[in-house]
Amino acid sequence: MQLKVTAGSSIIGCIDGLSGLEIPGDKSLSHRAALLAALASGNSVIRNFQVSGVTQVMLEALMQLGVAWSLEDKVLSVRGAGLNGLKKPEQPLYCGNSATTLRMLTGALAAGGVGAVIDGSDGLRRRPMGRIVNPLQAMGVPIRSTDAGTAPLILDERDPSCPLQGMEHKLSVASAQVKSCILIAALAADQPTTVIEPGPSRDHTERMLGSMGVELESQQRISDTGKTVYKTHITPLKHRDLRPLGDVTLPADISAAAFLIVAALLAPDSQITLKGVGINPTRTGLVDVLTRMGADLEVGNIHEIGGEPVGTLTIKSSGLAGTEVFGEQVVRMIDEFPVFAAAAAIAEGDTVVRDATELRHKESDRIALLCVEMQKLGVQIEEKADGFVIHGGHPIRGGIVESHGDHRLAMALAVTGLAAEEPVIVMDADVVAESFPGFSQLLQSLGANILVEQ
Ligand code: S3P
Repeated sequence: MQLKVTAGSSIIGCIDGLSGLEIPGDKSLSHRAALLAALASGNSVIRNFQVSGVTQVMLEALMQLGVAWSLEDKVLSVRGAGLNGLKKPEQPLYCGNSATTLRMLTGALAAGGVGAVIDGSDGLRRRPMGRIVNPLQAMGVPIRSTDAGTAPLILDERDPSCPLQGMEHKLSVASAQVKSCILIAALAADQPTTVIEPGPSRDHTERMLGSMGVELESQQRISDTGKTVYKTHITPLKHRDLRPLGDVTLPADISAAAFLIVAALLAPDSQITLKGVGINPTRTGLVDVLTRMGADLEVGNIHEIGGEPVGTLTIKSSGLAGTEVFGEQVVRMIDEFPVFAAAAAIAEGDTVVRDATELRHKESDRIALLCVEMQKLGVQIEEKADGFVIHGGHPIRGGIVESHGDHRLAMALAVTGLAAEEPVIVMDADVVAESFPGFSQLLQSLGANILVEQ
């Protein structure tokens, strides 16, 4: 499938969950809710669950592990198997392109002492897994990777009545996936565990585990080198019993909303309202940076659902000015750089992104490939080792681009088409369904000229 986007029309409307067209439920929260509900002792109901390619692989893996669940109309019901209740799978667990599934699931298998092979797509096999294998080994988990530190991972069975060792582990790169893997494994440790990160990675696992009866503490500290570090301290689970989630509703995914936000900024005379969007401060870097660049973007009706802040976002077409993004802000918008590049391309002046080497280890090398594809459209973008520079405010030509199997790259290139002189055609765009199956229909319903071609 390919997407053809032609600029010119305005993006107008309100996405409030009433029209049937919706921003999907949060991907990070959907993964966590499914997995942690499976580890709980009791039943959970999760509403507004994200039904997409990446959450499907998590659910299929849970089925292979003997977890009973049902999914109907975005409501996921899970019968918790308990921390030690996962069954040894008969086949390797296939995580597709989803590093979140692979890393968090590995933490859960480690806690339960389950023997398994955990694998994924060729793309996932290229992503670094030493960052979970090394700390898990230090905790006493019998796990190994390929010599290159990649999947497939092999976990040997372990007597779950023997606790793992609690420890202090320092991450060189802030990563919620790695932190979550360690925290979940640490539920089965005999001593507390502390994870130290150089940036504020998303804290959904901590919030959710806290609501399930786990004792956790998060602190921000100045280290000996004068840098701010983020510490998460978890106390092992008493009696190995995790309370179920009960009945929770997940907010709309701010990382999916990001494409609509930038679409409305780029398209002429546009205004959209997005209701019920998750605005956890560890995820709102894009909102902060766009506001600084001059975006007419308001956040209102802030309240909490299921322990997560949500709000209504109102966005109008805006002139933007270039900016610099570095340090902690990178961590707080780690998934948003492909679409941020579209906003930077229309901003007057230079936009510099640095401290973002981690983008090279996402679903694609999001520095190199973003530069290659944006250049094809006429965007003046320069690759740097740890980010990129965009000389903005110049005409965007349009043209034919590739998704490289990366859902966010595909959607970002499509959104760029809303500001291009000629149509933008995104090839191999089926991958959009990994995290945002209704992407083109939703944009179309708001007035965008976007065609799905087979
Ligand atoms: C995620 C964390 C991020 C993000 C990914 C989802 C999560 O990865 O890129 O899309 O749900 O924990 P890192 O934590 O490895 O940066």
